[in-house]
Amino acid sequence: MELNGISAIVTGGASGLGAATVRALANEGVRVTVFDRNEAGARDVAGEVGANFVAGDVTEPADCQAAVDQAASGAPLRIAVNCAGTGWVGRVINRDGSPHDLSSFEFIQKLNVVGTFNVMTKAASAIAETEPGDDGERGLIVNTASVAAFDGQIGQLAYSASKGAIVGMTLPAARDLAVVGIRVMAIAPGLFDTPLLAMLPEPQRQALGESVLFPKRLGIPAQYGELVVAMARNSYLNAEVVRLDGGIRMPPK
Ligand SMILES: NC(=O)c1ccc[n+]([C@@H]2O[C@H](COP(=O)([O-])OP(=O)(O)OC[C@H]3O[C@@H](n4cnc5c(N)ncnc54)[C@H](O)[C@@H]3O)[C@@H](O)[C@H]2O)c1
Repeated sequence: MELNGISAIVTGGASGLGAATVRALANEGVRVTVFDRNEAGARDVAGEVGANFVAGDVTEPADCQAAVDQAASGAPLRIAVNCAGTGWVGRVINRDGSPHDLSSFEFIQKLNVVGTFNVMTKAASAIAETEPGDDGERGLIVNTASVAAFDGQIGQLAYSASKGAIVGMTLPAARDLAVVGIRVMAIAPGLFDTPLLAMLPEPQRQALGESVLFPKRLGIPAQYGELVVAMARNSYLNAEVVRLDGGIRMPPK
């Protein structure tokens, strides 16, 4: 896909993997719309690279529609990247024997799964309206899973369920959207050096880095952005989940 002059929407674009994706796409001449509930962060990242931003919540359909509409105005919307999401720790039964509470499980599914569904469906609808390019291609959707979809650790019940859903949506979404020339990919990151992990003490971060097969360090967010750009460029990539993890396989804990 030719990237220069097209439009993209990146959820969670105010921080971490999303912000790195905003920078990588903007660097290729893409007109990016940063969609994040953190308005100040979205404004900062957008300002840094000359992008637009929309403050809103991916779990609110109206906010998602407003962000997609903004992204689709001015240049053909061809790329949607879903990075908004978060983790949660909780076991099936707690140490005191009480069951995992439903509200946190529902919160994680709503943010990570429903949020991705909202933006994927609305963005696909807008991308489908654009003129097709080479090969009849109209666009690309990239959703963010996690290695926890496959190697869920102790305490990752809710998080792994949500990321498993992202993996599970990849093939049917790609099949649904083939008719309008939209590819669907997912990236399953391992351990990335984002604000999420920056909160950990340095020795713990080092130990996490050492647990990676090779290279023995945390992932650099820019490498996530590079992968999105590579996926956009290579029109034969479709309906696949790519682990971006330095070969790590997470142990039970
Ligand atoms: N960092 C890692 O090691 C890692 C590993 C595997 C998967 N992931 C996944 O990658 C994605 C991004 O993670 P990150 O590390 O960049 O996190 P991050 O916390 O740095 O960024 C997440 C962004 O999402 C935004 N956000 C959260 N809830 C939102 C909502 N309801 N509406 C709109 N925006 C919202 C936040 O404001 C934030 O800017 C998440 O889905 C996460 O599960 C991260």
